[in-house]
Amino acid sequence: MSKIFISCALPYANGPCHLGHIRSTYLPADIYARYNRMIDNDVLLVCATDEHGTPIAVKADKENKKPIEIAKRYHDMIVRDVESMNISLDNFTRTTDDLHYEIAQNFFLELYNKGLIYKKDIQQLYCEKCNKFLPDRYVEGICPVCGSEARGDHCEKCGRALEPTELDEPKCLTCGSTPVIKDSYQYFFKLSEFEDDLKDYIDNNENLPANVKNYAKNWLKEGLNDWVLTRDMDWGIPLPLDEAKGKVLYVWVEAFLGYISSAAQWSRETGIKWEDYWNDTAIHFIGKDIIYHHSIFWPGLLKAYGCKLPDNIYAGEFLSLEGEKMSTSKNWVVWIADFVDKFDPDLLRYYLTINAPLNKDTDFSWDDFQRRNNDELADVIGNFLHRTFTFTHKFFDGEIPEYKNPSAEDNKFKEIIEKLPDTVGEYISDFEFRDGLLEIYRVAKIGNKYFNDQEPWKAVKEDMQKAANCLYLSNQLAKTL
Ligand code: MF3
Ligand code: ZN
Repeated sequence: MSKIFISCALPYANGPCHLGHIRSTYLPADIYARYNRMIDNDVLLVCATDEHGTPIAVKADKENKKPIEIAKRYHDMIVRDVESMNISLDNFTRTTDDLHYEIAQNFFLELYNKGLIYKKDIQQLYCEKCNKFLPDRYVEGICPVCGSEARGDHCEKCGRALEPTELDEPKCLTCGSTPVIKDSYQYFFKLSEFEDDLKDYIDNNENLPANVKNYAKNWLKEGLNDWVLTRDMDWGIPLPLDEAKGKVLYVWVEAFLGYISSAAQWSRETGIKWEDYWNDTAIHFIGKDIIYHHSIFWPGLLKAYGCKLPDNIYAGEFLSLEGEKMSTSKNWVVWIADFVDKFDPDLLRYYLTINAPLNKDTDFSWDDFQRRNNDELADVIGNFLHRTFTFTHKFFDGEIPEYKNPSAEDNKFKEIIEKLPDTVGEYISDFEFRDGLLEIYRVAKIGNKYFNDQEPWKAVKEDMQKAANCLYLSNQLAKTL
């Protein structure tokens, strides 16, 4: 039996969940967790809401509210969304919990005391109209690497993590004016010292999927700079140093630790050590937009701290909606709460899983959703279950009949049924969830064909044992499916 630590990327508490969240992170993590529990592995599946940083601060500014009010509102919605999709989390916490503050501050101090963090003056963008520094998402401009529109912390197009001062044509998000450059000191992490360790981690970890490896290798080729760990902002976790009044930890530094604090809180409640899970097998499910953070920053921090690095990082690619990029600001998304208001969550889980492998971009369209639901789930799988159960009720009083003197076809079908869990299990173990589901669908089709060929509706009149064997095996397949 293995112990497996599984995490879903922490959603920012600045909006509810939409289809994209479920597809890239929660659903795959949940499938993987449920499968491993079924085969008697011991799973710890954790997540939390990411409640600091500019995403929440910007939203709060817009609504004239306190960041914590915004975070609480969306935390509650996200919990409800995730529950409505039957994501089997063992714990879901918040990065504003006390325990998280404690863990994040101690983590910083550990690196600081090891001499891996230093202070340096840097140039930063400052808005003279708003009278404040503009970290991260407080500024927008053009990505210096690929030329697309980017935010101060990240370019969605090429996936690069950025510093605001790197942007071309920067603009203050709040008032639109062009910021000036001002000096301010910040704390840096000696990430560059870990370049070789990270190269080794990326090159020699056979589990890492191709998309994560390729992105990380390209970034590592360019060489690593040290990483700024702090911000001049009110909203965030204060640095645990007397000298650093007004500085908070950069949201990304402490967000990773949400994986740990969520697990640690679970340990407090259950009395079971989360470390045993992490040290056995640790897997992060993330969206591809945050590969940089998880393949470079996070392993760098962990290495510096002196603990085991994640065994795998699984990155789901993007989901578009009716052929267009999803956008919460343009309201081009389907919210989970709206979806489950009309449809059973399993229909979405089925569709998102069978639609494409996780490592390919894919599209959600209502027509296609309808088609797959009707032609596959209802007509093939549903039909097979329906005829099996109604027939069993009608001719065998709802009892599974005895299986005797099987024919060659019965034996062949039985073998197919018995092989199915292992075949699908192997796919799931390899993160090939779509192939696993396709296999289930394929065998349901075989079930329908077998049922047709056996013609149990005729056999009940001529050869009762033939009908009995057919219904016995059909019920076995129903259970297996
Ligand atoms: N909140 C971040 C985002 O939505 C993800 C954080 S994942 C973390 O991009 F756990 F590493 F923090
Ligand atoms: Zn401004």
